[in-house]
Amino acid sequence: MNIFVTGGAGFIGSHTVLQLLKEGHDVAVIDNLSNSSEEALKRVEELSGKKAKFYKGDILDRKLLDAICEENDFDCCIHFAGLKAVGESVEKPWEYYNNNISGTLNLIAALKDHNMKNFIFSSSSTVYGEPKVIPITEECPKGTCTNPYGWTKWMIEQILMDIYKADNDWNIVLLRYFNPIGADSSGRIGEDPKGIPNNLMPYVTQVAVGKLPKLGVFGDDYDTPDGTGVRDYIHVTDLADGHIKALKKICDKAGLCIYNLGTGKGVSVLELVKSFEEANGITIPYEIKERRAGDIAMCYSDATKAEKELGWKAKHDIVDMCRDSWNWQSHNPDGYR
Ligand SMILES: NC(=O)c1ccc[n+]([C@@H]2O[C@H](COP(=O)([O-])OP(=O)(O)OC[C@H]3O[C@@H](n4cnc5c(N)ncnc54)[C@H](O)[C@@H]3O)[C@@H](O)[C@H]2O)c1
Repeated sequence: MNIFVTGGAGFIGSHTVLQLLKEGHDVAVIDNLSNSSEEALKRVEELSGKKAKFYKGDILDRKLLDAICEENDFDCCIHFAGLKAVGESVEKPWEYYNNNISGTLNLIAALKDHNMKNFIFSSSSTVYGEPKVIPITEECPKGTCTNPYGWTKWMIEQILMDIYKADNDWNIVLLRYFNPIGADSSGRIGEDPKGIPNNLMPYVTQVAVGKLPKLGVFGDDYDTPDGTGVRDYIHVTDLADGHIKALKKICDKAGLCIYNLGTGKGVSVLELVKSFEEANGITIPYEIKERRAGDIAMCYSDATKAEKELGWKAKHDIVDMCRDSWNWQSHNPDGYR
């Protein structure tokens, strides 16, 4: 198939592009490189032996999207492009709503005008807000997001559901990711956050490599087994694989489908630190700090729907994730720079 990947130079996008190329698909990427580097795509080419077409540009640029759609005959679009830092979204709500929502509306319009109606969207477990029931199934209550980033995901889901309702020619798969970490086992591609990392694993690996002095653990008095926050970490390679399975679903005329992509297992901050230390033989100094505003105690998925309907199940455990994250960071202490 010929696949259009927005945000394909980013963390999850680059791992998915690699998998798509390995599976024999043709790929065209659009990315404005606002949070990524073209080097990621060069390395994807080195690993797969195949080249993805690359358009450096913005999904807000309708003319460019039209030109790309005219030049290529896409079978499906996988839409990763977006801003994703929760804290930053509170500071810069307009930028987040504009980039994520206007960008998606623009993209949908261009695809529709070229009769390309197969679409896979990167949603997030943040749509569940403070979860009412754990493990979280796709049917759990939504729409009580705690930050603008989460709202953009929920609003885009809503938009896509309405678009499908009005026009059943669309095939749309909404994938709600839990907490992607890890890296390709080659250590050639991985997560490369700009500035101080917002997420736990990149912070841990930067402490391990000596770029940051110690890890701050935000709160140890949550109602969880060891008091620290519990999340559902998922290996980025498993996540990429979920997109390959979603693509198969699209070929079978998906209609509109929604899936959690997680492992179904909760891991606490201190458990993750311990696993990282054991997997890699490195000590991570840490300090307990105040709870961080907006953080929730516990969040992990019920991933049985994806297993039943997509035949997808996460294969990697937390030790694999810790090993591969470190393999990437230790060989690329400055990321792609
Ligand atoms: N990483 C996570 O924890 C996580 C969890 C749930 C959902 N998601 C979603 O998955 C998607 C990919 O996340 P990621 O971790 O790979 O992030 P990322 O920042 O590494 O990748 C996003 C890519 O989109 C590009 N981009 C942003 N705005 C653009 C625009 N207007 N035009 C063109 N390119 C643009 C960026 O340069 C970047 O390469 C995002 O939509 C994110 O919200 C991520």
